[in-house]
Amino acid sequence: MFLIVENLKKSYKTTDITTTVLNGVGMNLDKGEIGVILGPSGSGKSTLLNIIGGIDKCDFGTVLVDNLEITKLNDNELTDYRRKNVGFIFQFYNLIPNLTAGENIEVVSNISSSPLNTDEVLKAVGMLDKKYRFPRELSGGEQQRISIARAIVKNPKLLLCDEPTGALDFSTSRDILKLLQRINKDFGSTILMITHNNAISSMANRVYRVRSGEIVDSVVSKEIIPAERIEW
Ligand SMILES: Nc1ncnc2c1ncn2[C@@H]1O[C@H](COP(=O)(O)OP(=O)(O)OP(=O)(O)O)[C@@H](O)[C@H]1O
Ligand SMILES: [Mg+2]
Repeated sequence: MFLIVENLKKSYKTTDITTTVLNGVGMNLDKGEIGVILGPSGSGKSTLLNIIGGIDKCDFGTVLVDNLEITKLNDNELTDYRRKNVGFIFQFYNLIPNLTAGENIEVVSNISSSPLNTDEVLKAVGMLDKKYRFPRELSGGEQQRISIARAIVKNPKLLLCDEPTGALDFSTSRDILKLLQRINKDFGSTILMITHNNAISSMANRVYRVRSGEIVDSVVSKEIIPAERIEW
């Protein structure tokens, strides 16, 4: 298995109360698979994704990514892990407003050891003609394409998507899902995606349902549906 999560626990302590957010989560993904995490708001999905991506830390448990035990890494090693291995895509794109589309991508490629070519990834997401636009001059779907280009320019082994279509309409969402499916195929990236949308799970190899910090159901799909055939 490329990604192995075992008995992951995480709590947040405020002055008087302790909230358990992850209560013994286990899941896995094979290399080149697409995994989907479904679950209600507040169930711990983003927390789980952030721990896998090395931007948050757990209290207990193990995360292995391509045989690297990231739950044992110190801060410097985690930064290195993120830089080399992980691409993040968020619901609200998180582009830098005063940089052009191309520059937003170069910010990442400049610190990567073996980045892809900026124009190549812009072309892959169908945005080469908008390279010199600023984020405010792009639609939501176009901004998400740029944020996907930014995530894949370092050719990451693992692409983590936190509700990548959460802010988009149906047809734009489907275009973004098609794009992610193509990236998974063409670049061989393993993709783990959070969504509220049940329909999206039909394009996944594995689906995990989270409730109150626990995996309550996991399914390995026999048939993957092409994103263009997904309806909701
Ligand atoms: N820094 C923090 N301090 C205290 N509680 C936190 C913190 N971050 C998250 N939480 C709590 O942890 C729980 C899980 O949060 P998380 O963001 O993982 O949920 P989620 O499943 O991604 O929800 P959503 O679908 O709304 O994005 C929530 O109850 C949230 O309030
Ligand atoms: Mg979330």
